[in-house]
Amino acid sequence: MITMAMAAASAMRPLALLFLFFFFFFSLAASASDTILANSSLADGQRLVSAGGVFELGFFTPPGSTTAARFLGIWYRDIDPPTVVWVANRDAPVSGTAGSLAVVVNGGGGGGRLVLGDGSGRVVWSSAPSNVTASDPVAARLLDSGNFVLVGGGTGDVLWQSFDYPSDTLLPGMKFGWDLTTGLDRYLTTWRSAGDPSPGDYTFKIDPRGAPEGFIWYNGTSPVYRNGPWDGLQFSGEPEMEPNNTSFRFEFVANRTAVYYTFVVDGGGVLSRFVLNQSSAQRYVWLPQAGGWSLYWSLPRDQCDQYAHCGAYGVCDVGAASMCGCPAGFAPSSPRNWELRDSSAGCARRTRLNCTGDGFLPLRGVKLPDTTNATVDAAITVDRCRARCLANCSCVAYAASDVRGGGSGCIMWSSPLVDIRKFSYGGEDLFMRLAASDLLKHN
Ligand SMILES: *[C@@H]1O[C@H](CO)[C@@H](O)[C@H](O)[C@H]1NC(C)=O
Ligand SMILES: *[C@@H]1O[C@H](CO)[C@@H](O)[C@H](O)[C@H]1NC(C)=O
Ligand SMILES: *[C@@H]1O[C@H](CO)[C@@H](O)[C@H](O)[C@H]1NC(C)=O
Ligand SMILES: *[C@@H]1O[C@H](CO)[C@@H](O)[C@H](O)[C@H]1NC(C)=O
Ligand SMILES: *[C@@H]1O[C@H](CO)[C@@H](O)[C@H](O)[C@H]1NC(C)=O
Ligand SMILES: *[C@@H]1O[C@H](CO)[C@@H](O)[C@H](O)[C@H]1NC(C)=O
Ligand SMILES: *[C@@H]1O[C@H](CO)[C@@H](O)[C@H](O)[C@H]1NC(C)=O
Ligand SMILES: *[C@@H]1O[C@H](CO)[C@@H](O)[C@H](O)[C@H]1NC(C)=O
Ligand SMILES: *[C@@H]1O[C@H](CO)[C@@H](O)[C@H](O)[C@H]1NC(C)=O
Ligand SMILES: *[C@@H]1O[C@H](CO)[C@@H](O)[C@H](O)[C@H]1NC(C)=O
Repeated sequence: MITMAMAAASAMRPLALLFLFFFFFFSLAASASDTILANSSLADGQRLVSAGGVFELGFFTPPGSTTAARFLGIWYRDIDPPTVVWVANRDAPVSGTAGSLAVVVNGGGGGGRLVLGDGSGRVVWSSAPSNVTASDPVAARLLDSGNFVLVGGGTGDVLWQSFDYPSDTLLPGMKFGWDLTTGLDRYLTTWRSAGDPSPGDYTFKIDPRGAPEGFIWYNGTSPVYRNGPWDGLQFSGEPEMEPNNTSFRFEFVANRTAVYYTFVVDGGGVLSRFVLNQSSAQRYVWLPQAGGWSLYWSLPRDQCDQYAHCGAYGVCDVGAASMCGCPAGFAPSSPRNWELRDSSAGCARRTRLNCTGDGFLPLRGVKLPDTTNATVDAAITVDRCRARCLANCSCVAYAASDVRGGGSGCIMWSSPLVDIRKFSYGGEDLFMRLAASDLLKHN
């Protein structure tokens, strides 16, 4: 562009100077600012750049798009082709380049918010209104974390943030899960396709019931994958999260006000993102030398990660010839189908429980079964847990809720156990209730 301007300069000096002036004015303005002030806006073609130059916000058309649809998004500034980590107007693209994002401050205490218009007066997207009055200095700022925040209220309070409304990507520092006081559920939804950021068929959410755990859902109705409850160090179904061996630090919070997962990357400058890509959850790390994203790990890994692949009480083991097996004291519910490798009917007890005379069979190194309906008491010992389970005739299994320091806490199941898998490395111990006569045979 500069070369073109220089060439033109000899012929049309005044015009070229004007052109140069605008070129520099806009490029400086674009590279300098991470902020949109109150009552100002960002037009299509302009960009916000976070203070340290990590992220950029602006309008884009996805590379695979077949239309001229424009979306407002955030991507890494120095990564090419752009890797988009957040999209505002997923459902409502702007057609044409007249879109603009404004920080609107309503008078009379009506609040401040972000409003994305299509240039014809139509609002295609807006952030939830916040509670500030017009005199408060509201501004929208793109941070180096990739978070786009509306700050104001004189105190610099965050009034709204993009991290609360994830698209398909989790960035370090984002909370994945629930604010139970406001009911805010932060979860991932796939893009419909590479050229279309509108919400796709898969979601990845934390279910806060029982012992909280994450599910990938198809169509919001069918579970595809479950990562298992947090065991103090990792999700029960993700032993590769082993914390002492990586530059990642994972955190899980579950209390009365919040249930969420978050991660940070140690050693500044390492870029990592976690993305829901159709039915697959993938963690990528940026390798500057190679100039590309490297797939760090991806889930589901194999057939044993398919939700309830072996049915109720079935145990999936990729190392076993038949993959699905029944624990001691159980036999296939439908032996004919089981032989045909359809294990969905699962396993049935050989001997009915009689409550008073039962005991427990340990299953070592497994992903704990679905905990949606389980009961958790983090405050008791594992011995106490065993006694409590034994004393309750409807309890069919128990496990420690925290594996640290030799194990503590209690998870108790009273509905059929589904989605158990055996790991060759890692995993936890599950204690399954069996009739005494079956235990004798296996001890
Ligand atoms: C923004 O516009 C509103 C309404 O016109 C006005 O009351 C307010 O003072 C303006 N704020 C700033 C910071 O310009
Ligand atoms: C919002 O503003 C109203 C009126 O000023 C106030 O009563 C209310 O407490 C505010 N709510 C929050 C969440 O700040
Ligand atoms: C998706 O879910 C809806 C109900 O929420 C259901 O009616 C529809 O059949 C489902 N589609 C598929 C393909 O499973
Ligand atoms: C742990 O580190 C060792 C040595 O660097 C490596 O071989 C291994 O793959 C790592 N394990 C995980 C789970 O990252
Ligand atoms: C991680 O730490 C545990 C406990 O300190 C240890 O047993 C295990 O071998 C460590 N794993 C690696 C890969 O260093
Ligand atoms: C829940 O955990 C969060 C994060 O650690 C903390 O800020 C909050 O105060 C906790 N709430 C309760 C009720 O303990
Ligand atoms: C989705 O996964 C495929 C295959 O692993 C990969 O080629 C593609 O880049 C991924 N897309 C995103 C957005 O990460
Ligand atoms: C339950 O099992 C115990 C131990 O096998 C046995 O002593 C007891 O009689 C059984 N009770 C019933 C009601 O079957
Ligand atoms: C949890 O309970 C509900 C309602 O009883 C039931 O429909 C569902 O199958 C149960 N889920 C598991 C994993 O036990
Ligand atoms: C036994 O467990 C069931 C299911 O968790 C529970 O509803 C019931 O209250 C428990 N009974 C006792 C006596 O603790």
